[in-house]
Amino acid sequence: MTAIHIQGLGTYVPERRITNVDLMSRVDTNDEWIVSRTGIKARHMLAEDENGSDAAAKAALCALEDAGIEAGEITHVLAATCTPDYLCPSTACILSGKIGSHGAAAFDLNAACTGFIYGLETARGLLAAAPDAKILLVGTEAFTRRLNWNDRTTCILFGDGAAAVVLTNGEAGRPRKRLPAAARLRDVRCGADGRQYALLTVGGGTARDYRPGDPVQDDFYLQMQGREVYKLAVRSLSAVCEEILERNGLTLDDIDLFIPHQANLRIIEAVGDRLKLAADKIFVNLDEYGNTSAASIPLGIGDACAQARILPGSRVLLSAFGGGFTWGAALLEF
Ligand code: UT7
Repeated sequence: MTAIHIQGLGTYVPERRITNVDLMSRVDTNDEWIVSRTGIKARHMLAEDENGSDAAAKAALCALEDAGIEAGEITHVLAATCTPDYLCPSTACILSGKIGSHGAAAFDLNAACTGFIYGLETARGLLAAAPDAKILLVGTEAFTRRLNWNDRTTCILFGDGAAAVVLTNGEAGRPRKRLPAAARLRDVRCGADGRQYALLTVGGGTARDYRPGDPVQDDFYLQMQGREVYKLAVRSLSAVCEEILERNGLTLDDIDLFIPHQANLRIIEAVGDRLKLAADKIFVNLDEYGNTSAASIPLGIGDACAQARILPGSRVLLSAFGGGFTWGAALLEF
């Protein structure tokens, strides 16, 4: 059947690995607190000479190879990120130059940790308007560059990483190297509540009028009201999952694997409890990466495929929440 398919996937996580014990030399914390409150054991950090666009390029080249599509054939480059290299130009433009997809439309989209799901929704719209489009969608984040290392409630949570997919209208076709089969994008739901924007902010924008020589203030870094975000996250993830299943006439029994945004194991378990989802149907890899924001869902798809948790015929539910406040869910069929 001709439909929107993910034709290839690529992931990239920086080599530098920072454990919870490593963090103890930077901030007053300990492994026991971090693991019991979040489930996180390690996170990866970009090298000094590496930016989010470099991570994105590495993931993108793998995804293109997986899809059997040349960079020059790509019509649209979408970078989901809230830690771009610059406010302008977009990370997507820089990425496009690095991989050689010259001439393709290129733009960033910022829905924080829900960025990849918003990217799927955007790709769906583009493919409806231009059925021959070949879309590269990358979730990439350099969060360790915007963490306040004096704030132990936030700096222990995030890591860097990137993951990319290529989307086209087409058939499932041959098996891929990193996917058991091309994945049909069955549906996407996205939402936001902008009244809650102040719960999670990352500065460096124009809201503060910095002058040359001004020292940066705390608002330059990620700031978060963790408890409020936690509560909204559990509510919005559960609700959007129920909504997308109902729209598609499905129940959780029809889902083979749930890949939630990897922010906090307690949030994931609370959503699992609310949805009455068996633990073996929930994918978790935040222990190794921490919260990689817009990269978290596609990194999860990559790891789940590598671990054979996704097989040909699997139906997978994706769901994320993030700053904005944003939320979203998507259904994939392999
Ligand atoms: O993609 C969106 C990402 N955002 C999220 O997912 C965040 C959602 N929220 C959370 O995950 C949790 O709120 C946190 C993990 C951020 C915090 O957990 P919490 O259970 O809400 O802890 P808390 O901030 O209320 O702090 C409890 C205690 C405090 O000590 P006192 O005042 O009780 O003595 C903190 O000072 O834990 C202390 N604490 C720490 N101790 C050791 C806070 N951070 C740390 C730390 N190490 N890193």
